[in-house]
Amino acid sequence: MWKRVLLLAMCALILAVGGGVAYLFARKPAMAPPRDVKVALTPERVERGRYLFSNLYECTGCHSERDFSKFAAPVKPDGLGKGFVFPDQMRLPGRIVSANLTPDPETGLGKWTDGEIIRAIREGVDRDGKALFAFMPYTAYRSMSDDDVEAIVAYLRTIPAIHNPLPSTQLALPVELLNRGEPKPVAGPVTAPPRSDALAYGRYLVTTVDCAGCHTMKKNGTNVEGMDLAGGFELSLPEGTVFSANITPDMETGIGSWTEDGFVARFRQYRDFAQNGAPSISRESFTLMPWLAYAELEEEDLRAMYRYLRTVKPVRHKVNTHPARQISQH
Ligand code: HEC
Ligand code: HEC
Repeated sequence: MWKRVLLLAMCALILAVGGGVAYLFARKPAMAPPRDVKVALTPERVERGRYLFSNLYECTGCHSERDFSKFAAPVKPDGLGKGFVFPDQMRLPGRIVSANLTPDPETGLGKWTDGEIIRAIREGVDRDGKALFAFMPYTAYRSMSDDDVEAIVAYLRTIPAIHNPLPSTQLALPVELLNRGEPKPVAGPVTAPPRSDALAYGRYLVTTVDCAGCHTMKKNGTNVEGMDLAGGFELSLPEGTVFSANITPDMETGIGSWTEDGFVARFRQYRDFAQNGAPSISRESFTLMPWLAYAELEEEDLRAMYRYLRTVKPVRHKVNTHPARQISQH
């Protein structure tokens, strides 16, 4: 008798677990139909989109072919927006492939509608309704204003088409299932705070650009609590290793002692590299901080970011951003 009970109990358990797993596998990401918009390609909007794509959001960094032998890895000529496979050294969960965003109809976004591109950027699902890996920072882009996301689409329509067939992203199993919970539809019109309100606008910039994506330490892919913007996140490529800096207003270990003008000057320092080409570097100077893209940020944007960064919680956390420097000094 007890054997039958046991058998039944086991069958029930198998069914329950199986059902749960089947549910996870069948689960579709939350999504809404793409917006029915046609973005007009006015010169102002295309230029604003170029600034957002190449400077402020630095979409270029993840979606272009870059030269990692040079300071801050500039985009290679003819590499803009063509996508690539991320190297194994980054220890990402699976084969992660950044998409070709050029207007090529077969391998890029040529056949996508404007609404489909906007949905991918802010809501994290592709044209077929597949969840994009949230390493693409759509959870931060969710709060990007309609004006800004439309400007990016306008610009993407104007860049040179590059035929570049790439394999598809293949996430490792638990991540693949969990990641399906990340996409979320954006409800209603989204606007940015007025630029004249520097603090609010600075918060909008730092949040939607996702400075925290690089400037906060992670455990199992999520930000370590209480360490917001306190640095120490490791970025490794075959060309070198760098740790992000503490950009909280802590006086000793963060940027608490920096003046607003000093902050602006720190970014402007790399303008010559951005405009005339970045020099070749050794492993000690390797960095992935988007200095070249940010060197040409509008001054008002830099000042707004500074204002907001003054208000985040100071965290005492000493970071050695370039460990290779010290090793080579001994
Ligand atoms: C940290 C790296 C990173 C940044 C920054 C980034 N992306 Fe992505 N993006 C990716 C990856 C990786 C994918 C592919 C995800 C997948 O296949 O699941 C992707 C996918 C996309 C897609 C979907 C295309 C397709 O064919 O499926 C679009 C559109 C896109 N990104 C646009 C942008 C724009 C616009 C920006 C800047 C506002 C941006 N991305 C910034 C990494 C990034
Ligand atoms: C792709 C990763 C990445 C992103 C995105 C990023 N940073 Fe950084 N940042 C770094 C790394 C790594 C360093 C340290 C190495 C260096 O200084 O080059 C750094 C350094 C800095 C420094 C210099 C701090 C010091 O003590 O010298 C400032 C300021 C800074 N980042 C601000 C920002 C702001 C503001 C944003 C968002 C608008 C941002 N970063 C986005 C990776 C990143």
